[in-house]
Amino acid sequence: MGSRLELKALFDTFSLEKKYVCRLRISRFTGHTTGKCVGKEGKIVKKIMCIFLSLITLAPAAACARPVEPDLSAYDASGRAEIPVEILGELDEELREDLLEAPKYVALTFDDGPRADTTGRLLDGLLERGAAATFFVIGEQVPCNEDLLRRMRAEGHQIGNHTYSHVRLLKAEKDAVVEEIHKTETLLKEAVGEGDFWLRPPYGLIGGERSQLIRTPMIYWSVDPQDWKLLDKDKVVAAVLEDVEPGDIILLHDFYSTSVDAALEIIDRLQKDGYAFVTVEELFRIQGVEPQAGKLYARPDRVRELN
Ligand code: NI
Repeated sequence: MGSRLELKALFDTFSLEKKYVCRLRISRFTGHTTGKCVGKEGKIVKKIMCIFLSLITLAPAAACARPVEPDLSAYDASGRAEIPVEILGELDEELREDLLEAPKYVALTFDDGPRADTTGRLLDGLLERGAAATFFVIGEQVPCNEDLLRRMRAEGHQIGNHTYSHVRLLKAEKDAVVEEIHKTETLLKEAVGEGDFWLRPPYGLIGGERSQLIRTPMIYWSVDPQDWKLLDKDKVVAAVLEDVEPGDIILLHDFYSTSVDAALEIIDRLQKDGYAFVTVEELFRIQGVEPQAGKLYARPDRVRELN
């Protein structure tokens, strides 16, 4: 609007001197010139002024009127995303494909700990690899190992209940079931604070009737390399790698040094294959499954029948 006012002022001055030969207006927005001119002189003036006004206003007006088309040739909407080489480095094609696939999540679980000389080393290895795990601990082993439990919680691992003295819940008296679980829960709360300590029944055994006493979800497993029997790192690694699929819950025991070695190698091998290690709780959340208290899960998508 400012430009239109300026132009009008210019013509008013011109009109005074030339006895109103011409009154022109030009729209800044459309570039059109309108107005009246009187006599021969007026027509010449109109032409000159039209050219002059065109030069000072038409060019910018035209530039504003025409939208500038962005150069989208660098985009390919239908193509898949590429990770810049600066991030991935020079990877071979197979590894690159795996990393670009949807993440494959898996949960490592460790029973029967904590044990000072093996669990600490396992926690170091997990931290180094950015892997989370779940520990189903025995109540009897909580005293003197509180530091390990606090470390588990601080480093993002899940802590679960594996009863106080590793009893067979299938045969235990109902009072004993409640006591075994409650006692461990109390010790865990004292060590690490509040939390839902999901239960893994020793040997994965619990009956339908006893399960009604359990106020948390119960976790079985879907991959069992029998590490406690093999006691051989390479055999445990091979057994897990042969069976594992995304969404699995892997059973190991941090009580054995060979199992700790195996676990770290399993992580190294599966991470290269595009797997990410999460806690059991996270695995449920990732799969969108709300775990129910008193149910025994082999995986978030697989419930075990109770006897
Ligand atoms: Ni056990």
